[in-house]
Amino acid sequence: MAVTADSTTGVSATYDRYQEIRSFDESKCGVKGLVDAGITKVPRFFIRPPEDIAADDINTGEWINTQFTIPVIDLKNMDSRRAEAVAGVKRAAEEVGFFQVVNHGMENRVLEEMLEAVRGFHEQPREVKEEYYSREMTRKVKYVSNFDLYKSKYANWRDTLFCVMGPDPLDPQELPLVSRDIMMEYSNKVCKLATVLFELLSEALGLKSDHLKEMDCVKGHALLSHYYPACPEPELAMGTTKHSDPDFLTILLQDDIGGLQIFHQNHWIDVPPVHGALVVNIGDLLQLISNDKFKSVEHRVVANHIGPRVSVASFFTPHLYPSTRLYGPIKELLSEENPPIYCEITVKDFIAYYDSKGLDGNSALPHFKV
Ligand code: OGA
Ligand code: NI
Repeated sequence: MAVTADSTTGVSATYDRYQEIRSFDESKCGVKGLVDAGITKVPRFFIRPPEDIAADDINTGEWINTQFTIPVIDLKNMDSRRAEAVAGVKRAAEEVGFFQVVNHGMENRVLEEMLEAVRGFHEQPREVKEEYYSREMTRKVKYVSNFDLYKSKYANWRDTLFCVMGPDPLDPQELPLVSRDIMMEYSNKVCKLATVLFELLSEALGLKSDHLKEMDCVKGHALLSHYYPACPEPELAMGTTKHSDPDFLTILLQDDIGGLQIFHQNHWIDVPPVHGALVVNIGDLLQLISNDKFKSVEHRVVANHIGPRVSVASFFTPHLYPSTRLYGPIKELLSEENPPIYCEITVKDFIAYYDSKGLDGNSALPHFKV
């Protein structure tokens, strides 16, 4: 137990952080539960330490966002415009690590229904939701607030429904009823889009279009449905701490509230909501196998007075798949001038290290350098 003195009042107070975190976890109703209970102050274990605020809240603002915008890639008429799309994907993957795609073939109806289903899940009565609340590593469908709650320096203002949709097909009965049908439909369609994107990315690396698919990059799919409740003191908390993604590729659907930012050339840049668009970013594993050609870029979600904000992240990684396949820099990309930067590792090793670290603001990749 930590005994601290409040410098403004001089009154001593005892604060048992572990106990606070535990009772929050045992409530099984996440950040949404705190907001429903009517809190007007952010509990202490969510508050960012001053040194983190000082380090992270640099170079943000409107001016920066007028200087640089996240690339938008149009996937319309791919037969006649393929070279243009490959060039756009190449530039974005090498220089920014993030892009948005439009005319990607997923109907607005599917995107809207998916966002609505995420709200629907998180806004159900506690009794329905708590059955899914779990921190078990191997559970395929689980609802949890802060996967790294017991490790991180401060908790995030966010709850998540985590579902492993592939490579082994998930029995739809395992999904919560409110979101079951649309999650199956969304998952099927987003996997098709991922296949197209991996083809473009393969070509952008100068490889055959099925190269990344042959490496099983599309094989594993996890769907993370995030819910960011309105925050009473957004300057003190963070929606998602800065991190890069532990996968090959992420396709993100966000609603129209905003708050996602990427760290680009020493500045935090907004990823503005574009209606009907999907956000795509390179994950750590693709940076590793591309030998740093493609960049897995740090990003975060700021907390907001306005909410809830919802988003759906499709992580392409064989996360829970017991594969012994080794991933290292792709041989075809290596030469004397371009030697391998990373060791060969299994996805399991990578995830174990990433999860043991939690979102601490540092990349997991340097740990795997030769
Ligand atoms: C993630 C992520 C961003 C968002 O799930 O890794 O960065 O907007 N999500 O929720
Ligand atoms: Ni992310």
